[in-house]
Amino acid sequence: MRITVRVNGAERQADCWEGESLLYALREKLEVPGSKNACEQGECGSCSVLLDGVLVCACLVLAAQADGHNVVTVEGLADGDGLHRVQEAFVEAGAVQCGFCTPGLVVAAADLLEHSPDPSDDEIREALSGNLCRCTGYTKIFDAVRMAAREGSR
Ligand code: FES
Ligand code: FES
Repeated sequence: MRITVRVNGAERQADCWEGESLLYALREKLEVPGSKNACEQGECGSCSVLLDGVLVCACLVLAAQADGHNVVTVEGLADGDGLHRVQEAFVEAGAVQCGFCTPGLVVAAADLLEHSPDPSDDEIREALSGNLCRCTGYTKIFDAVRMAAREGSR
């Protein structure tokens, strides 16, 4: 089947089979490989994207379900060459090691700050609870989210 999806603001089409995940379609057919495939079971959050503004695991969404909808990936958060403040903060805080979890965490953190510009630590913990990182111990990631929140309040 042929799907039409608005990806990061641009209308794109791809031929997919009925059981194909949105994550696979994004990475392999729609040329937006930023979302990572770590577990393919909805456990790690590395594939987090916004589907019509709602945070989802792209590995759990069928490509067919995204037909006619809007998807924003980590690539779509940047404004041209200008990084999103969450992306800047992850770099600044040193919150990236292997980087496999980073795209999903950045999308989840950006979504949090969109809805809660000055989150408490508990809110950050809750918002990022679906995103696993095996490298950083999360401290720098939390620092990055706090930093991005401060930046947004200026
Ligand atoms: S790859 Fe989707 S949640 Fe892990
Ligand atoms: S930086 Fe390696 S999994 Fe998070």
